[in-house]
Amino acid sequence: MWQPTERIKHEPLAAAWPSRDQAARALLFQPIALGPRTAATRTWIPAMVPWRATGDGFVTRDVIDWYRRFAEGRPGVLVVEATGIRDIPSGPLLRIGHDRFGDGLARLVDAVREASGGETLFLIQLIDFLAIRRRPARDKYLGRFLAVGDHHREALAELTGDATAATCSDAELRERLAAVPDRDLPRVLSPRELEDLERGYRERVTDTQLPHIQALPQVLPGLFAGAADRAMRAGFDGVELHFAHAYTMASFLSALNTRGDGYGGSRERRIRLPREVIAAVRAHVGGRGIVGCRYLGDDVIEGGSHLDDAAWFGVELARAGLDFLSISKGGKFEDAKQPKVGWAAYPYTGRSGYECMPTIYSDARGPFGRNVNLAATIRAAIRAAGFATPVVTAGGICEFAQAEAILERGEADLIASARQSLSGAASSPTTARRSTSSTSRSPASCGTATRSTPPTSRSPATASAA
Ligand SMILES: Cc1cc2nc3c(=O)[nH]c(=O)nc-3n(C[C@H](O)[C@H](O)[C@H](O)COP(=O)(O)O)c2cc1C
Repeated sequence: MWQPTERIKHEPLAAAWPSRDQAARALLFQPIALGPRTAATRTWIPAMVPWRATGDGFVTRDVIDWYRRFAEGRPGVLVVEATGIRDIPSGPLLRIGHDRFGDGLARLVDAVREASGGETLFLIQLIDFLAIRRRPARDKYLGRFLAVGDHHREALAELTGDATAATCSDAELRERLAAVPDRDLPRVLSPRELEDLERGYRERVTDTQLPHIQALPQVLPGLFAGAADRAMRAGFDGVELHFAHAYTMASFLSALNTRGDGYGGSRERRIRLPREVIAAVRAHVGGRGIVGCRYLGDDVIEGGSHLDDAAWFGVELARAGLDFLSISKGGKFEDAKQPKVGWAAYPYTGRSGYECMPTIYSDARGPFGRNVNLAATIRAAIRAAGFATPVVTAGGICEFAQAEAILERGEADLIASARQSLSGAASSPTTARRSTSSTSRSPASCGTATRSTPPTSRSPATASAA
């Protein structure tokens, strides 16, 4: 996991619980409309993948217990982890790409309704992601996976000064490639082939030479809409479209998206598919539920989108009729740590991953509320354009006074706490209930939260969605 070079250890914020009177007056515990529904408070537990589904994506007892614990604290909004919209194997990631997943999801909804006394709005995050493979062993890659061609023969002949390389058979070419020292491989392999070897093959939205990537704009609106329809039938209050981090929709929004088919290049073109997805989802959900999205205030990678793009996108997403915008940051593949052979790259291990989930080992700015400025700028742009769309902020917010000050300054409308809620729910089965009795409504529990680390160690077989 990347950390700022300063590596300053920040002490957790001193957490003071509000008195009953303070809680009654607090903005944090006031209701707020989210499209057709109203959240009872402005406390929000954002999506967190705990890898507790079955290997084929069904809800388990563990999944239900996990969300029940959060629901007992009665947050205003609780969002189910990134859930796959396609009917394809994706490891122990929840799935919603077929009607057969409906019963389990409906049981999950019932459990959360019961545990929260019907008070918590329950959303599900819908995700699409592209293929990624494990980093191959060098001999396997050069011996089997690499699609060898004449450009390799020519490069090899030039590198070795041996003209016979230009006419050798495929089998011999592979043998000769295996003998090339690592330092010379960049002279023989293309940058993309080198990346496939050193980090594992990873599809991009710009791989339009692949028919299924070319067809993404045609298939994704229907897939998201079908998943949203299933979510509504299972009883959720609405959906959060996952347009953030390392996944398909965020890659369409990113400045790295150079597709030449009208879905890449300028901001107007990069937001075209997100707009079409929103329109398709809205057409299926209608007024039955909340439709919002999570997207990035900053990609935090070279050549990616930054805050000025995000502010522009925010206005357009509000104009498209979303009921909330949840702002995250980073979490990309482009700067992820090189995986070990046999492992897949994980998008939260580089600098952009750190910015997504800042920890107490930080720079002078520290991890607390580190990403609030993104939400504040986006919210200001949306308000200036005449939209009232609520904005959710996350990232190192772990304490009542801190959360309340963000709301008072008008930097965001709802306060999300992920690891903080997790540590509170995990540390004691009674934490959530105790805190509701002292304040009547519980914000996410706090204090120890930023000690938690993001899920960096996973089996190489798992999908990399989050
Ligand atoms: C275990 C874990 C799983 C996560 N999974 C998701 C996810 O499925 N979707 C998502 O948008 N963010 C995911 N995140 C990011 C969090 O929602 C949140 O944005 C991030 O942890 C920063 O907020 P915090 O400082 O309150 O923890 C995950 C974070 C953690 C720690």
